[in-house]
Amino acid sequence: MKMLHLSVILLTLSGVFTQDSGWRVNYLEPICAVRGFSVSIPCRYAYQSLNPNIQVTQMLWCSMNSNTGGCHNPPYVYNSSSNIKSDFEYVGDNKSDCTLLIHNVQFSYSGEYKFRFITDQTGGKFTGDSGVILQVADLKVSLIRLSGNGTLKQGDSLNLTCDVNCTQSSSQFVWSKNNERLPESGPVLHFPAVTVRDSGNYTCTWRTNRASGSKTISLLVEGEESNPAHGSIWIIVVVTAGVVFIILVILGAVIYYRRFLRERRSVNTKQQKMDDSGIYANV
Ligand SMILES: *[C@@H]1O[C@H](CO)[C@@H](O)[C@H](O)[C@H]1NC(C)=O
Ligand SMILES: *[C@@H]1O[C@H](CO)[C@@H](O)[C@H](O)[C@H]1NC(C)=O
Ligand SMILES: *[C@@H]1O[C@H](CO)[C@@H](O)[C@H](O)[C@H]1NC(C)=O
Ligand SMILES: *[C@@H]1O[C@H](CO)[C@@H](O)[C@H](O)[C@H]1NC(C)=O
Ligand SMILES: *[C@@H]1O[C@H](CO)[C@@H](O)[C@H](O)[C@H]1NC(C)=O
Ligand SMILES: *[C@@H]1O[C@H](CO)[C@@H](O)[C@H](O)[C@H]1NC(C)=O
Repeated sequence: MKMLHLSVILLTLSGVFTQDSGWRVNYLEPICAVRGFSVSIPCRYAYQSLNPNIQVTQMLWCSMNSNTGGCHNPPYVYNSSSNIKSDFEYVGDNKSDCTLLIHNVQFSYSGEYKFRFITDQTGGKFTGDSGVILQVADLKVSLIRLSGNGTLKQGDSLNLTCDVNCTQSSSQFVWSKNNERLPESGPVLHFPAVTVRDSGNYTCTWRTNRASGSKTISLLVEGEESNPAHGSIWIIVVVTAGVVFIILVILGAVIYYRRFLRERRSVNTKQQKMDDSGIYANV
């Protein structure tokens, strides 16, 4: 499906450049972008088949939100002759590629855009009739409870859903938990029964060939082991009990050993007395 889509695009583009000898600008549309992220607007242009000596001297992009018709006059969102830095970055060249990269896309950027180029030939200026439409969407991640209410508890059932209000044919959703990629794909992450270990930050990433965006939601499941302070208190209790036990054992051993020594000493002194009284000699 994806391969078919790509080959259709390539056929369209090559068809344009081999069969038509006129001045042209071609875009692929529609283009969907997520607010706050970047989008690449693919664009190709042609002129050299008419005259191979033509040099392109200016590349311009205009927005129909601020300009009209063929964008013969300013304002432009991009003008190759001025070094103004903006969200609109030209990543094409002065031959055939007029791709525009828009950073930090805002809702106000949605609308129609046109590419215009000016050559060193008198009257050699061109803007395509129709431009390319940019749609700006919002990416939302929401938690849908399928059971339970209030704080999330173990065993509750829920869905994490990822929504993009834009219709782009070939887009995909990828999920990750605490920045580690999950095997699941698709707009819904289904949890039939959550456990404490499901707690974490879940990120949905939406991607097309030209744009992407992501959003993170935090999931906190309450349960016995969820409080790390509890765990450390138990460790302290166990360690203290262990230390006290070892001290008692050592103390007991010392007391026992002392008593043993004292008893031996008294036996020895008794023996000594017997020896002194001459009993030994009589044996
Ligand atoms: C076209 O681009 C090339 C490479 O970036 C540059 O060397 C050349 O001067 C450019 N031509 C014109 C007419 O600006
Ligand atoms: C592009 O910017 C340059 C420098 O500011 C300016 O001279 C030129 O007229 C602009 N191009 C158009 C078509 O307005
Ligand atoms: C998506 O929704 C936002 C409002 O949340 C709206 O401003 C925007 O135009 C919508 N985008 C599309 C492509 O429908
Ligand atoms: C929570 O769910 C229980 C049982 O399903 C129900 O009785 C209670 O009214 C609910 N509370 C809220 C705030 O929805
Ligand atoms: C929750 O996700 C499951 C599995 O993807 C789906 O079948 C179900 O319709 C979803 N429920 C809601 C309310 O979104
Ligand atoms: C989740 O994100 C919040 C901030 O958004 C951060 O404080 C927290 O440490 C993160 N949790 C994990 C498990 O990465």
